[in-house]
Amino acid sequence: MSAGVFGSLFLYTFLSHFNHGSFLRFRAASAWEAVDTNIPSVNLDIRTIVFSSSLIALAASILIIVFNKKANSNKYMKFFIDTANLAHIKEAHELGILDGVTTNPSLMAKEGISGQENVVRHYQAICGITDGDVSAEVIATTYEEMVIEGEALAKLHERIVVKVPMIKDGLRAIKYFSSKGIKTNCTLVFSAGQALLAAKAGATYVSPFIGRLDDVSTDGMTLIEDIRTIYDNYGYTTQILAASARHPMHIVNCAKVGADVVTAPLAPIVALLKHPLTDNGLAQFLADHAKAAGK
Ligand code: G3P
Repeated sequence: MSAGVFGSLFLYTFLSHFNHGSFLRFRAASAWEAVDTNIPSVNLDIRTIVFSSSLIALAASILIIVFNKKANSNKYMKFFIDTANLAHIKEAHELGILDGVTTNPSLMAKEGISGQENVVRHYQAICGITDGDVSAEVIATTYEEMVIEGEALAKLHERIVVKVPMIKDGLRAIKYFSSKGIKTNCTLVFSAGQALLAAKAGATYVSPFIGRLDDVSTDGMTLIEDIRTIYDNYGYTTQILAASARHPMHIVNCAKVGADVVTAPLAPIVALLKHPLTDNGLAQFLADHAKAAGK
């Protein structure tokens, strides 16, 4: 875009000058006269041209730098952990690779968390471990109740993201939260059309469930690719949060197709570390070192 602006300005400056001939002492004959009736007269000498071209070049460079910085600001894939288990969250955080946490009512129930006070305390404990966003899902299914519940969740901590299911009332609630500057994660997404709606409503994150699609013989990764294409076509800023990732290759493939975030339990994240050749190689290095040291 900045190249276009730069090009147009340059062309305009050049044509204005060329037509009036103050520098080149060249006056285009009838062809130019016939075409140009409206270009305002600008008398430029070589210093003016050099100065204004330099200014334009400088402005164009600044625009390019700013634009690239913005484009690259989200260029790494974030790792979220998909659990309400505090020990697992701590372990992933200590690995130094954790960018956030996602929970859902099933994951909370798995940890035996129930009752409003316990739920609130648990979300606060999670926010105390990670520096990243923490998705907390509403239980309500009507617009009015979702708004009340979501606003209460958002007040718990600045990093809470209100997780809302992809249903009619949920879509309205996402639109409302986004107008209030409350971050949202649109969950239970299984099609590109649903993801398009979530983006139009202003969701911060969209959660396509890749593992559950694989479970019903539909390629979850194709959905991530489709959503990437759609969002890139129109510059939607909603982040693709690939959810229901169950194994390390889900994570690697998400990175290949350009998911913004992947959320997975601790096991697939730690499994990324593992390679038998790494273990064998290390054992050999240590054995050789010990042998050389005469141990
Ligand atoms: O983030 C959604 C996730 O918790 C669902 O995972 O394995 O139950 O399909 P799964």
